[in-house]
Amino acid sequence: MTALRYIAPITLVVLAACVLPAKVTPLPSGAQDFVEYCAACHGVGGTGNGEIASTLSKRPADLTGLAKRNGGQFPTTRVMAKIWGYTGGKGGSTIMPNFGPLLDSETVPYDGGDGIMTPTPIRLAQIAEHLMTLQKP
Ligand code: HEC
Repeated sequence: MTALRYIAPITLVVLAACVLPAKVTPLPSGAQDFVEYCAACHGVGGTGNGEIASTLSKRPADLTGLAKRNGGQFPTTRVMAKIWGYTGGKGGSTIMPNFGPLLDSETVPYDGGDGIMTPTPIRLAQIAEHLMTLQKP
């Protein structure tokens, strides 16, 4: 009995070491990416009150009202285009930065609301999903 008490945890550790791939960095979640790439301006809750918001020439949009301002429906495609559009600073705004790492991630088929499965960088899709959870009625 005593021996088993020691062997079981060791076996688990050894098993985990065999099963888990050695060098896979886990993908950040949509919430984590939002905090990392968006919250400085838009605020962790998305209301537009991020730390550096007051230093900007334009007030960051309140992202919790995206659905409400769109007749109650979350404008997924528009939001994604907005983020996507900033690649290389060609999005018409100099305020939002380039979100390269988000856009370079592996693509997954994702329906942005138009009923068409479009290959979409997974981290971009995750951010959109996270934004949906922040919507206020
Ligand atoms: C450096 C500050 C800054 C960062 C970082 C930033 N934004 Fe913005 N964002 C703004 C400002 C300012 C606006 C409003 C003016 C404009 O549209 O450019 C805006 C507007 C938007 C809009 C348009 C809202 C609408 O009503 O159409 C979306 C969507 C958005 N941001 C999403 C994001 C997401 C998602 C991230 C992170 C991946 C992000 N932003 C990071 C400053 C920022």
